[in-house]
Amino acid sequence: MTLADLERRQVLSLGEVEAAADAAALEQLRIKYLGRHGEVPAIIKGMKDVPQNERPEFGKSVQAWRAALEAAMVARAGAFAGEAKSDAEAFDCTLPGRWPQPGAKHPVSRVIEETAAIFARLGFIVADGPDIETRFNNFTALNTPAHHPSMDASDTLWLNDDLLLRTQTSPVQIRMMTRHMPPVRIITPGRTYRRDTTDATHSANFHQIEGLYVDTRPVSLADLKSTLAYYASAMMGAKAGVRFRPHFFPFTEPSVEVDFSCHVCGGKGCRVCKMSGWIEIAGAGMVDPRVYEHVNSARGDRAYDPDSVYGYAFGFGVERIAMIKYGIPDIRWLYENDTRFLSQLA
Ligand code: PHE
Repeated sequence: MTLADLERRQVLSLGEVEAAADAAALEQLRIKYLGRHGEVPAIIKGMKDVPQNERPEFGKSVQAWRAALEAAMVARAGAFAGEAKSDAEAFDCTLPGRWPQPGAKHPVSRVIEETAAIFARLGFIVADGPDIETRFNNFTALNTPAHHPSMDASDTLWLNDDLLLRTQTSPVQIRMMTRHMPPVRIITPGRTYRRDTTDATHSANFHQIEGLYVDTRPVSLADLKSTLAYYASAMMGAKAGVRFRPHFFPFTEPSVEVDFSCHVCGGKGCRVCKMSGWIEIAGAGMVDPRVYEHVNSARGDRAYDPDSVYGYAFGFGVERIAMIKYGIPDIRWLYENDTRFLSQLA
């Protein structure tokens, strides 16, 4: 290698350092030129082949090259550090902006809150009860005979002989009446549990809203019907109506099933209401005198004397209302927390 070769290499290497794009590229150059097997040490090792008379000058040139390389690398590295620190220079105005992603209330919560607001206008307050209930509150006081199939372990999730996960919000009726004198006017939203296999319309854990109105002045089935008619129109649209069909529940007498007129076709008949014009919504009825007697025995008085108190109760599924109101075909969508679904209802 001649002095002229050396000079060419020096110019080339300094140019490469100047052009290094980032710290990694710079490190590659350090290895290439100054590393243990790099060019500079190799040239120093090969100096024995340089003619004797050229050797001192050649040696000085190599040392100068190495010093220049090291200095250039330090300078280039400093430039990178400076760039990283400078926010103004790092800002890339071509990047898309960051959009806030506000959450939305879950449909189940919306139905509960809207329902509470509608019944508040009629003087109902919201009452609460625990998910774990006693046999007495969930079944016995609700006039459910011991042999009733709903008490079976295949339908109800029992925790022990006496405690269970409540199968309905109706036990809150008992809790309210045993603790409060009439009149009682409550709605009570909450979770309920049944030993159901999950499919498009069933879930082992769902929500109900119960209503109870008991007073010492006459309360009739007509009051129940007008109250639910008001709820139907407030919730599903002004034109919505209700109809009662005879039914049976152990804790109401008479008992009815409540249909809302179909909000999609207005009662003419369509696929949503299976051509009937009506959609089944709730169970309801006048509180059975035997329920008052169970309440009295739990209270130890006769505050709920069946001869002088009158009342009605109703109960419906929250998910069912949400599915009908928002056109949701599968109950499971309500529990999957998929924001692609939930954000459509925002
Ligand atoms: N608890 C009943 C059910 O879960 C509904 C109901 C409530 C019926 C109140 C009558 C009165 O099916």
